[in-house]
Amino acid sequence: MTVKFDLVQNDITKRQKTDLSFLSEDVAKKVLKFHKSFEQYWETPLVELKELARYLGLKDIFIKDESYRFGLNAFKVLGGSFTIGQYIANKLGKNIEELPYKTMISHEVKKQLGDITFITATDGNHGRGIAWTAEQLKQKAIVYMPKGSALERRDRIRAHGATCEITEWNYDDTVRYCNELAEKNGYVMVQDTAWPGYEELPRWIMQGYMTMAYEAYLKLKSQNLRPTHIFIQAGVGSLASGVTGFFSSIYADKKPIITIVEPDKAACLYKTAKADDEKLHPVTGEMNTIMAGLACGEPITIGWPVLHGNVENFLSIPEETAAHGMRVLGNPLKGDERVISGESGAATMGVVSQLMKKEELADIKKLLKLDENSVVLLFSTEGDTYFEGYRDIVWNGSYPNI
Ligand SMILES: Cc1ncc(COP(=O)(O)O)c(C=O)c1O
Repeated sequence: MTVKFDLVQNDITKRQKTDLSFLSEDVAKKVLKFHKSFEQYWETPLVELKELARYLGLKDIFIKDESYRFGLNAFKVLGGSFTIGQYIANKLGKNIEELPYKTMISHEVKKQLGDITFITATDGNHGRGIAWTAEQLKQKAIVYMPKGSALERRDRIRAHGATCEITEWNYDDTVRYCNELAEKNGYVMVQDTAWPGYEELPRWIMQGYMTMAYEAYLKLKSQNLRPTHIFIQAGVGSLASGVTGFFSSIYADKKPIITIVEPDKAACLYKTAKADDEKLHPVTGEMNTIMAGLACGEPITIGWPVLHGNVENFLSIPEETAAHGMRVLGNPLKGDERVISGESGAATMGVVSQLMKKEELADIKKLLKLDENSVVLLFSTEGDTYFEGYRDIVWNGSYPNI
């Protein structure tokens, strides 16, 4: 059997220039300053995989290891915490710069705010970030998860004091259910995707993710390095929009080639890029993929223009590619560091490794201009957030290479 990727190329020179001012360096600076004020903050490692790069025939590979983020094993808390911070700042009529972590969680701020209930739908990581932030603020969080979610992930959200249940629906229908509850009961909906009429908070979520991109940028800059290629995984595309917007804004005409990676069971951005008719094209039904964080069928409305204007490639991949990426990162070559990366976190590593080594993917490798001069930047957006699944793949070899 051979590996099959589906690729859509997007000629960004033909697209209208997008306004990236909301994802500029100035915004990234403000967001990073907010996150730095958290006592749980430390910069996550940017791991250089020199030996792997040599083995694959690339100049270098850097991977940002978000398993270290705030002790929560995933990057997602960056979006939720900044959004809740921004929401509270607005409610108090303050600038977020006057609301560092210590002030935000203070007794006085709690007294001024009164009781708030935050509600969200999640595959796990985002909900954990919201539950964690609400816990810091001594506020309530209600979290719903799509059908098939791992109980282990649900229990980790409950451990932060949130109410958390698994529904009978897919991610997008679970989002709709939460929104109905929010409207009915006056809860604050903190969702990591947008739709017409709900766009302010998702914009802050995207901005929150910029901390991860900005840290990586600053680290590379300190070594006089610039990536030639970025691969970024996508569910609704909020993360991808934050990363794409930031790097396109900061590098301008020297921007790296950006490739979005989605599971073939939930490839809504790939489908939208392929149709190329200015409409969004959702994927519906059960999106039964091991890449739980990427199992989203409806692209983020406010992110699509950023992606359409600045992403060169949209790639749809099989399950085994993510599993391969987990094994590559978990079993490094001598001299390289180990990165513990979950299904959604490792998808891009699987892509790069297979593109460089599989004969049947040689054409795509060429179209993506990957060669011995390429400096590749990846984001391992989660650690082993589903511990049992991680061991099944990395130790027991499920989803073997095809
Ligand atoms: C680990 C992980 N990586 C990537 C993503 C994708 O983010 P987005 O839905 O913004 O595309 C998610 C989303 O939940 C995630 O949990």
